[in-house]
Amino acid sequence: MKFNKEGRYHKLDAVIVGAGLAGLRAALEIAKTGKRVAIVTKVYPTRSHSGAAQGGIAAALGNVADDSLEMHMFDTIKGSDYLGDQDIIEFFVNEARKTVYELENMGVPFSRTEDGKINQRPFGGHQSPRACFSADITGHVLLHTLYEQCVRHKVLFFNEFQVFSLLIKNNIANGVVAWDIRHGGFHTFHAKAVLLATGGYGRAFEITSNAHANTGDSLALILENGLPLEDMEFVQFHPTGVYKHGILLSEACRGEGGYLTNGKGERFMENYAKDKMELAPRDVVSRSEQTEINQGRGIDGKDYVYLDMRHLGSKKILDRLPQVRELALNYLKVDMITDPVPIQPTAHYSMGGIPANINTEVILDAKGTVVRGLYAAGEAACLSLHGGNRLGTNSLQDAATFGRVAGQSISKFIAESPIEELSQNHLDNANGKVSALRDGKGKERHSEIREELQKNMTKLVGVFRKEEDMLKLKSIIKGLQERFKDVSIDDKGDVYNMDLFEAFEVGNLLEFSEVMVEGAIARKESRGAHFRTDFPKRDDEKWMKHTLAWKTKDGVKLDFSKEVVTYMDRFPPIERKY
Ligand code: FUM
Repeated sequence: MKFNKEGRYHKLDAVIVGAGLAGLRAALEIAKTGKRVAIVTKVYPTRSHSGAAQGGIAAALGNVADDSLEMHMFDTIKGSDYLGDQDIIEFFVNEARKTVYELENMGVPFSRTEDGKINQRPFGGHQSPRACFSADITGHVLLHTLYEQCVRHKVLFFNEFQVFSLLIKNNIANGVVAWDIRHGGFHTFHAKAVLLATGGYGRAFEITSNAHANTGDSLALILENGLPLEDMEFVQFHPTGVYKHGILLSEACRGEGGYLTNGKGERFMENYAKDKMELAPRDVVSRSEQTEINQGRGIDGKDYVYLDMRHLGSKKILDRLPQVRELALNYLKVDMITDPVPIQPTAHYSMGGIPANINTEVILDAKGTVVRGLYAAGEAACLSLHGGNRLGTNSLQDAATFGRVAGQSISKFIAESPIEELSQNHLDNANGKVSALRDGKGKERHSEIREELQKNMTKLVGVFRKEEDMLKLKSIIKGLQERFKDVSIDDKGDVYNMDLFEAFEVGNLLEFSEVMVEGAIARKESRGAHFRTDFPKRDDEKWMKHTLAWKTKDGVKLDFSKEVVTYMDRFPPIERKY
């Protein structure tokens, strides 16, 4: 074993884990105040998964049709199936316009209307065209623009570093310990504040639109530190994943006029959401697709339906959706200009995550007690802005807006606070994890455990859920956690040891998946993306509550005392019809 157990040391004002939209936006805000801020990221920044968001970023600009903040707020609340906190949603829609103009001023090349305004396209669940877009590479251009701005403002980047340990002392976060993937060895990032902005964690599922890196590492670190996760049972399945691969084919396809058809050639959404059709929110469309498939009306009776774009014509497809066309060509050898594309629901977005307040400060209980110096933003966080179901294009807006908020909150905090000293043994935890995997003599393969977890998550806690399946899954996960204790790896080296990181990631997947399943078993109702065939109705009397979940030595502990914030006089819960 060659790695240096003492590691290297960096003293900073703030350290950010994750270089997606939220992390970059926060870093930029802090760097502009002249403070020393570093981003630690396991992939190169412009390969972060925000770049895979295709269709747009929401803001009620009203450039194409009438729109208002009130309408954006209502759509988001209704889309969330009334689990979204309305104070957060109000703040969010108010900030959204500013966020888009700010990005435009930084240089984001938005697509334009004939008269030169930022163009906007329709998206599911939004009653007005609200998605500001750049063809179908919106996340990509946002990511590149923000990365350039961060470089310009001298943000420090530690690319290809895997965080193994989150340091919290006296209820104050004071850094992270990360492994240098390229060269080997630990680095300690000692800081006054830590922001967790690690994005989504759809890799717990077999069919997912998420990148390989989206394994929820920061969520596992939160649990390990005795802190809770929130609303983890709410996982969004996007209706148009490339068949068998899960890769995203943007909702913009339907926003631009694409149809969904079943094995009988019918536009089946007519039977589920007569008014909005293909532009109903994602939870509704995914359930409709899955129902068609389950009842034998998939294409040739199989487990997929079609996304049909042919009637839009090649000019529109090439102009508005060039990347989506290429994805279908590359992965299925189907040209959407001439043929319909096989698609199926794919695990896409997690509404739950690390509980945080409106300032992005991480909280540790239902009363909102803050962990000082610890922040979370973007998909890894749960503010709860999206409640039970997120509307398309609200996620890029969430990451950009609350990335900025995180940067502002952290700047204020670090200006007022001293740095908390490190514990003498602050490297032990990270060293222990690496040693356990590298020195282990067990016979288990982490790749097999990962595969078994993913297959069963998709099958047993997917679009439709029921108690019997989830109890089975709970015991499967327990078994996999036991087997994980016997994992050993073949690569004992320091440089690009992917065997080591992938094993570490599997351990993390197992930790938060258990929490997802326990939350889903406990929530005996159907709301948003959480649909239980054994409890098919929403139950506002019992379940207008958030789920907080801790890992304890006796298993997962749940608490439902965190109430949902509603403006009953403005947006009382009503039945969700589209
Ligand atoms: O379908 C899409 O383009 C994805 C956007 C989103 O998840 O917000």
